[in-house]
Amino acid sequence: MSIHSKTPTRKLTNVLVTGGAGFIGSAFVRAAVGEHWFPGKVVVLDALTYAGNFENIADFADALTFIHGDICDADMVEKTISTHQIDTVVHFAAESHVDRSILGPMVFTRTNVLGTHTLLEMSRRLGVRLFLHISTDEVYGSLGEEGSFTELSPLNPTSPYAASKAAADLMVLAYARTYGFPAIVTRCSNNYGPYQFPEKLIPLMIIHALRGMELPVYGDGMNIRDWIHTRDHVGALRCILSSGREGEIYNIGGGNQRRNIDIVRAILRYLGKPESLVRFVSDRPGHDRRYAVDSAKLASELGWRPVVPFEEGLRETIEWYVRNEPWWRRVMDGEYQEYYTRQYLKR
Ligand code: NAD
Ligand code: TYD
Repeated sequence: MSIHSKTPTRKLTNVLVTGGAGFIGSAFVRAAVGEHWFPGKVVVLDALTYAGNFENIADFADALTFIHGDICDADMVEKTISTHQIDTVVHFAAESHVDRSILGPMVFTRTNVLGTHTLLEMSRRLGVRLFLHISTDEVYGSLGEEGSFTELSPLNPTSPYAASKAAADLMVLAYARTYGFPAIVTRCSNNYGPYQFPEKLIPLMIIHALRGMELPVYGDGMNIRDWIHTRDHVGALRCILSSGREGEIYNIGGGNQRRNIDIVRAILRYLGKPESLVRFVSDRPGHDRRYAVDSAKLASELGWRPVVPFEEGLRETIEWYVRNEPWWRRVMDGEYQEYYTRQYLKR
């Protein structure tokens, strides 16, 4: 568990979790339902896109309400919030993959911008008491050799994904300012852990290594990301739900800056696979060089700090994918295969 020193102050009852069948959303749902964080209902609203999988929360199916729907559907969102007397919205639903946003950006604007706005407007009209908008450090753009992003860093998104998230953040903050709507924005660094869809760096490399396939490293492999385990991210969200200040932005960082190539090599080493599987491929267009997040505000205001050591979390994650081959084989069926073929066979 992440550490938070402040006593919870906010009473939250019926919680709507959008994107709760995805990677991070499902980690939140499993913890919130499994540990009884809320006295009322947990309602999960998810469109079950290629990235959403009900199986991720199936163990808790009896203790939650699942709604298969799209956050762009205003009538359905309105009905959901009013029927279940939702007082809290935790908004994870999004298109989340940079490479996909380069190949097909329109759905990113639809879901991340229009979908967020629809959810926000219905939440405001129906008097939701707290709207927690889950965003990303990618809204700040890329860093050079030094420094890290604070909440005051200027927005400088470079990919269509990051731009769509930045647009959504601005609308949420505008609602807080204009209407006094009780919203909070969080900006987290790169997550890793179990149940991550195998298009992102860590699960993709694990699965390629397990299958003895080449591991496609973009560019020179020296790009840096700041990794955080979903357990730590979810712990931070719990602190913020309890005691975060409305209208504020909180950065959430893992404090684990790693070069991509070092992660790839660590995975190969752990699985006993040869380094010759690494293949340097053409770089991602507009590839951000480095992300690093300063979480000092969250630490000083709410006493949060991450507790999962990266090497331990990575080992645990690799072992999860080794044990859960049927899971990743199932989620990689169908539409994913088409995307994957387009993405990788052309390189
Ligand atoms: P994910 O792609 O694994 O899951 C997204 C979920 O949203 C899926 O369950 C999907 O079915 C659902 N969804 C997509 N479009 C929808 C729509 N129109 N209506 C309803 N549901 C829809 O994403 P993730 O990695 O779990 O990320 C969750 C959130 O966290 C996103 O908002 C993302 O921007 C943010 N975030 C992710 C990371 C990361 O490293 N993965 C880091 C920081 C922030
Ligand atoms: P990714 O997991 O897509 O997250 P993000 O782009 O949101 O940071 O990528 C993490 C890093 O890994 C990024 O620098 C791109 C790189 N990468 C590869 O080198 N090869 C790959 O196959 C993928 C998916 C990513």
